[in-house]
Amino acid sequence: GAPIEVDLSPVAEGQDIKVFWRGKPIYISHRTKKQIDEARAVNVASLPDPQSDEARVKSGHEQWLVVIGICTHLGCIPIAHEGNYDGFFCPCHGSQYDSSGRIRQGPAPANLPVPPYQFVSDTKIQIG
Ligand code: FES
Repeated sequence: GAPIEVDLSPVAEGQDIKVFWRGKPIYISHRTKKQIDEARAVNVASLPDPQSDEARVKSGHEQWLVVIGICTHLGCIPIAHEGNYDGFFCPCHGSQYDSSGRIRQGPAPANLPVPPYQFVSDTKIQIG
């Protein structure tokens, strides 16, 4: 599939949008300062799939989280802005992802993957 461009300017702080890339749902979250601080306060070594928040977002654009919205357990689509960690909740078997899309609780073995993307301007990304 071809890369897609997404205009982020209509997405207010605290909101998420879902777009499709290669038939996959992609969540784009405009994170609040609270969500960023929570994601960065975690002891990375304590995570089931240890990854720093810094490694999952683009430097200078920390407010934007871009993840593939497919649960790493059995492939359901998690719900944004739900669950115990200010992130995503999978209703199928209760996996809880945090505001960095990292698995924190439940049967999913891995974090929500970050697709290949880049900022082409301050308010626009290209995915793919
Ligand atoms: Fe998400 Fe099982 S598919 S918890």
